[in-house]
Formats: sequence, C-alpha cells, structure tokens
Amino acid sequence: MQYDFNKMHEREGTACVKYDLREMYFKRADVLPMWVADMDFETPDFIREAIVERALHPLYGYTFRDEKYYTNIINWFQRRHHWHVEKDWILFTPGVVPALNIAVLSYTNPGDKIIVQPPVYFPFFTAVKDHDRTLVYNQLIKGEKHYSINFEQLEELATDAKMLILCNPHNPVGRAWTKNELECIAEICLKHNVLVLSDEIHSDLVLKGHKHQVFADISPEVADITITAHAPSKTFNIAGLATSSVVISNKELRLKFDKTLKALHVDMGNLFGFVASNAAFSKGDEWLSQLLDYVQANVDFTEDFLLKHLPKVKMFRPEATYMIWLDFKAYGFSDDELKQKMIMEAGLGLSQGITFGPGGESCMRLNVACPKEILTEALEKLCKVF
Ligand SMILES: Cc1ncc(COP(=O)(O)O)c(C=O)c1O
Repeated sequence: MQYDFNKMHEREGTACVKYDLREMYFKRADVLPMWVADMDFETPDFIREAIVERALHPLYGYTFRDEKYYTNIINWFQRRHHWHVEKDWILFTPGVVPALNIAVLSYTNPGDKIIVQPPVYFPFFTAVKDHDRTLVYNQLIKGEKHYSINFEQLEELATDAKMLILCNPHNPVGRAWTKNELECIAEICLKHNVLVLSDEIHSDLVLKGHKHQVFADISPEVADITITAHAPSKTFNIAGLATSSVVISNKELRLKFDKTLKALHVDMGNLFGFVASNAAFSKGDEWLSQLLDYVQANVDFTEDFLLKHLPKVKMFRPEATYMIWLDFKAYGFSDDELKQKMIMEAGLGLSQGITFGPGGESCMRLNVACPKEILTEALEKLCKVF
C-alpha cells in the first residue's frame, strides 16, 4: 500500500499545540508553524483503526498492559535495532520527558552534577534544574558539516558528575551518533561511574546512510549503567497519547526507577496509548519506511533550495530526526533580530536556536515533517526575507 504524505489536514481547532498555540508562542496566530516536533502527516490508518475498534467497546475502565504490549515492543527492538530486551526490563512512563525527570529523582540528590550536551532538547535542562541538581554543559563542537562531541571536556566533567543525559540521536543538530562516538562516551562514563540516561525517542527516525546504535547495546557493562528511554510518539505521530517506556537491564537501577514511578502514581498509563503502541510496533514497518523516504526527500529538497536561493543559510544535514538545524550567522543579526525577522517579516514559526542552550546562537530549527506543499511555502517565505 502506498501512503499519501502529501495529504493536507486542517489542524486548527483540535487543541493542537503546533497550530492552536501560535498566538501564545509567537505573538502572531498566523505564522506558518514549522516548530514543535510533531508531524503534519496523519497518524497511520492501522493505529487509528485499532483505536476506533477499541473505542467502540463502551467501557474504558482501569486497564493493564498485557503480554502483547511487551511482546510488540520487544519484537520491535529486535527487528529494528537487533537489540535483545527482556520483558522485566521494560517500565512504562507517560512520556519520555517524565522518564527523564523520574530518572533524575531516582539516581541523584540535590546539588549533584548532571551533564547535558547543548544545543539540546530544552527539557533536558529543566529535568536537572527543577529538582535542584546542578546542570553541567559539555557543549557540542560545531564543525563545518556536522556537530561532534568534546570528549576531552566530557572526561574532565565526568570526574565529579553523577549522570549524563544523552540525546541519541541528537535533537536539534540531527546527529545519529556513531558506534565509535558512543563507545568513547561509554568508556568515559564507565571509568568515572557516571550513569547514562539515553533518550532514544528519535532512534526510529534515522535517515539513509546512517544507523542507530542503541547505547545500552554497546556491551553488558554499558547496559549496566544505562537507562534507555523510547516511545512510539515521534515515529508514528501519537505524542498526544503520552505513552513511552524505559528499558533498564540493571535490576538495582530498575527497582530504584520503579520505586519513584510508583510513588508518583504515574505508571497507570492510558488505554488508548497501549492500543496505539501495539498497532504501531506490530504493523508499523512499511509505513515507517515510506515516511522516512518522504522525510528524506524533504531534507534533500530543503538542501537544494537553500543552496540555490539562500546560500548564506548554513544547513546541517540531519542524519536522523525530521528537524533541520539552520545557521543564519552569516547575516550578522542578533538572536532577537533573527527571531523578529522570522516571525514578523517572514511569517514563520520556527524553534529559536538559543532555546536549546549554549551553542544555539544564530540558529533556528526547521521541522520538515509536513507535506512538501507546506515546506515549499515555508522556504519561499524564508527566501523573501533573507
Ligand atoms: C529528545 C526528545 N526527548 C523527548 C521528547 C518528548 O518526549 P515526550 O513527549 O514523550 O515527553 C522530544 C520531543 O521533541 C525529544 O525531541
């Protein structure tokens, strides 16, 4: 079956963050929204049908995650990432960001140092700061073509840090970290007893020519210090269902995480999230393959367009995720000027680079998970102003 990713949908009026909160975020309700990380593509039919089928049964009472729920996740990891996971290792969380916060609460104390590698997804900062832990930056190195990790600095910071929150693959700069890079991180963290919280929410969105390496799968020793967070939400556009998991093979670490999860009473989940997760992980391969082709084509289109019309905008070609990191440094605007130009002159709602922390200066993140028609309109708007 050929899926139609060109299909346009009216999302306004569905209490949709991306469209219905534009006034709040951009002070302008009519910007073309290319920001928050969800897709303008419809959630695949096999997920919608499974939800509708369950919804037709007139009772939505307390529901548990049955054997099938775990088997589907386990088989997905095996099939897609050749990663062997056991049922006992999987814990439910109502989203990956909650998982980050629960891990911080479970394994660290106020004041403890936690390393993050900006520019990075901003809830990594709040997961540390909101619990009075100390945020430590190992800023990524901006290269000509892509970003890389400052291993020397990481080693220095690791000497007295408790945890590293790794974004694997990395949002917003689009790196699918190589096995070699991850092995270097692992070596440092093992040496200095630093736990690794590996956020792998984008791991199923790796583009052609690149491969996802599950951090915990580097070796049994690495698995022993790793908490992996994963979800079907980005991949299948079901973020509104708040359903995700953590995988922790180390029993001691798992029990600690579970204790916090239970104490907060957030492990119940929601019925429709389980139904969607089952459908996604058991039936999603072909749809995902077509989605990745479409996203890849949008990335190629953006790259060609910018080279031809806006060569001063530097694009960091993503190896994973459907976000493109753009650098406007050559224009010499301040971040505030850049933001104003983008919103008020171009009428575009992109994610501002500095919200991703140090290293985000002069950059903007463009979400290209949309029909090509929308992307073309966005690029044309950009062209008129820049
Ligand atoms: C790296 C990363 N982690 C987590 C999330 C969101 O996770 P959730 O909606 O499951 O809390 C995002 C969303 O963009 C993300 O990019």
